Order: sequence, then structure tokens, then C-alpha cells
Amino acid sequence: MVPTVRPWGVASLDRLLGGGLETDCLTELYGEGGSGKTILCLQATLQATRDDAWVIYVDAEGVSPNRIAQISGDRLTQVLEHLLLSTPRSLDEHTRAVRAAAALARDGRRRVGLVVVDSVTYFYRLALSGDTEDAARQSLAVEIADLVSVALQQGIPVVVTNQVWRNPRDGGLEPLGGSFLQHAAKTILRLDRGDGAYRRAVLMKHRSRPEGAAEFRITTTGVESLG
Ligand code: GTP
Ligand code: MG
Repeated sequence: MVPTVRPWGVASLDRLLGGGLETDCLTELYGEGGSGKTILCLQATLQATRDDAWVIYVDAEGVSPNRIAQISGDRLTQVLEHLLLSTPRSLDEHTRAVRAAAALARDGRRRVGLVVVDSVTYFYRLALSGDTEDAARQSLAVEIADLVSVALQQGIPVVVTNQVWRNPRDGGLEPLGGSFLQHAAKTILRLDRGDGAYRRAVLMKHRSRPEGAAEFRITTTGVESLG
């Protein structure tokens, strides 16, 4: 059985991924600040709402209304009418928001075309100090399990973004969240910043595609595919 894919709406990325986002798994985007994680989430949102699907968007980091307007252009009303946005402000609220997103995706009353969690590690990272560390890991694991079940059982693509930390051993940037998240996400893209608006998405992991990279530019109106 060939898994269904949904276009991301960025040609170079869709080519790299063999058509787009797989509907039966978690896709993880990680990269440093400004690397393009949120804009790619918004691009996927824009694409999903083209055919009137709903998008559930859990926003921990404060997505810019201006940016939503810029990327949506004359489709802003359609995008906003199909966006179910939640803005949790603590790890507990975040876990509840993900649980609510999973329930909404499951109940089938709305045709959900995409679930976004941007980022899945913001509050987790804040709780990673002192005696809240174990609870934070547990919360993240519960959230990831919820999201994986949405993708697997409902066939809805799930995109999560992830922050990075610098590994002092070799100076490299690595995704947060430990091995559980890196196993649970079946597609993993690392976003690299280049000069100016240039960005590169490197495919670090995929179940059926070879490693490779897609190039794009961040523009005033969103994302422009290169190549
Ligand atoms: P964090 O959430 O901070 O981790 O970053 P992110 O990876 O989510 O980055 P995001 O997708 O928000 O991209 C931000 C980048 O887009 C920044 O480098 C901005 O300079 C760039 N950007 C924002 N608006 C514009 C614009 O109108 N034109 C251009 N060319 N770039 C823009
Ligand atoms: Mg962001």
C-alpha cells in the first residue's frame, strides 16, 4: 500500500518528499530561530485550506497575524475561516491543547486536513530544569503519542516543529525532545539558514525516500521554491 501524500505547496519540498506530507505519520521540522519552521507550517496551512479542509494549529510561540495575512493574500478570509488556532501558555495547557486537537481530529465532524504544533518543545524546554524535568518528558511523550495516533488512525498529516540545542562535543545543532520524538517522527527535515532569504531543507529521515535537500527563499508573501 502506497501512503497518501498531501502537497506542501512548495515545489522543491514536494519533490524531495515524493509529493508532499505523508498522511499517516508525524513530520518534524527542526532548525534554529528564523530558519523557516513557522513559515513552512503556514505554507502547509494555506495549502490544506485550498480544498476547504480545516487546520488545527497549536501555537506555543506567537504566530504573527501579519505573516498569516501576507502569506494568505486574497485567500485570508478562507484561511481564517478554516483555522482552529489554540495558544497555550504553559506545558499543562499545551498538553491539553494537543489532547483537544486529537479529539477534534477524531470526532470527524469537521474534515481536518492538517494538524500543526509549533513548536512541540517550547514549554518542554522551559520545564527542563530542576525537579520538573521528568514531568516535562512525560508530558512531551503523551503529546507525541496523541499526535501519532491522529496521523495513524485518522490519516491526517501532522507537522511539529522543534527547537535546537548546540551539542558542545562537535558544535552541531541538534533537535530537542530526546530519542522518543526522533523515533516517533517518520519524516524529519532540518532547516538550514543561508545568506539573506535563502534556506535549505535537508531530509534527515524518511521511510521511503533517499536523503536529499530542497532549496527555497523566504519572501514577503511566504515561500518561493528554488529549483
Ligand atoms: P523561530 O520560531 O524563532 O524558531 O523561527 P522559525 O524557524 O519559525 O522562522 P520563521 O518561519 O518565523 O521565519 C522567520 C524568517 O522569515 C526570518 O529570518 C525573517 O527574516 C524572515 N521573514 C519574515 N518576514 C519576511 C518578509 O516579509 N520577507 C522576507 N524576505 N523574509 C521575511
Ligand atoms: Mg517559529
